[in-house]
Amino acid sequence: MHLLDAMTREGFEEVIALHDRGSGLRGWIAIHDTSAGPAFGGIRRFTYRSEAEAMMDCLRLSRAMTDKCQLARLPAGGGKVVLLDEPGVDWDRAYAALGRKVEAMGGRFYAGPDVGTGQQELASLVGETRFATDPGPKGPGELEGCTAEGVFRGMEAALQHLDGKLDWSTQKVVVQGLGAVGRMLAKRLVEQGAQVVGSDVDTDRLEAVVAELGIEGLDSTEVLHHPCDVLAPCAMGGLIHDLTLERLNTRVVAGAANNVLARTLHGDRLHDLGVLYVPDFVINSGALIRGTVFHLEGRRESVSAIGTRVGTMVREVLEEASRLDAAPTRVARRLARQRLKELRDPAE
Ligand code: NAI
Repeated sequence: MHLLDAMTREGFEEVIALHDRGSGLRGWIAIHDTSAGPAFGGIRRFTYRSEAEAMMDCLRLSRAMTDKCQLARLPAGGGKVVLLDEPGVDWDRAYAALGRKVEAMGGRFYAGPDVGTGQQELASLVGETRFATDPGPKGPGELEGCTAEGVFRGMEAALQHLDGKLDWSTQKVVVQGLGAVGRMLAKRLVEQGAQVVGSDVDTDRLEAVVAELGIEGLDSTEVLHHPCDVLAPCAMGGLIHDLTLERLNTRVVAGAANNVLARTLHGDRLHDLGVLYVPDFVINSGALIRGTVFHLEGRRESVSAIGTRVGTMVREVLEEASRLDAAPTRVARRLARQRLKELRDPAE
């Protein structure tokens, strides 16, 4: 692994290796780009097979955050923290140490939640830095609600793009993962009269949400090939790859999970198969919008305004993709990188 070569190729500004003697914390901070404004990114705590794998994930995720910020036209760039989830780490102290590190960066990077970093971890972090998401009433709040509303409005835009008009009562949506975002999305869809089928590997959670919302429950092994209008991945990434692609039985894939496509070429293959894939980094940016506006402008943008913003972004990307007869993921990425290039080299 040649870190400096990878940084040069993708234009990274900085990669920091983390080690804290007191707590045992080990990990990486990657700052991809701050041309538009400070970097924003979540803290992922995960068990990786190697430190190289963790570093690559950190680079990839921070790179994707820059695309997300550019598409949403935010005055912000991409960053990420990846922490190695290893035995023996004192996590309260580890997050506090990370907070001191983020504070020392002086506002060049804002850290937020991600897989493995929830309210408790954020509370340890904000004790040490101003540049992190406060999980309490002083923070941006409603992050999952913003993501869910963005996904809902993006889904709406995708169906309107295909059908011209939209009658939710004729639409069937499979929601994979009924966690914070998936549950709210399912609720929103039920309120609109859509037929909702939900799935979660956590069977207690599945039962509870099925009972609460009166939706149909589905075994998690059935999700991919269950016939529906929209498949909404709201669990983990990597869902669509060589083996799963052909089994899909949906018109649209649109959900909150990051990196749903194992590789960009799987987006091309979905396009060839006639399945409309709404790029995750376009449709799931609700929480990012709320967080950046809160930190940089000191206000809480409303959930509905964020939904409208995401719906408009999705519509623009899908229209451009239709015009070019290209996969929306390729088009969105090209658009984001074009905007970044203009920022970096305004004279060109
Ligand atoms: P969460 O952790 O609250 O919920 C995820 C749910 O998925 C859990 O209930 C889990 O049991 C379930 N799950 C895991 N594997 C599954 C599988 N194979 N089949 C069915 N269910 C499965 O996470 P949250 O916050 O709802 O986020 C969902 C996804 O959206 C994640 O991938 C996250 O990275 C992404 N995302 C979330 C944002 C947010 O604002 N929370 C923002 C942008 C992306």
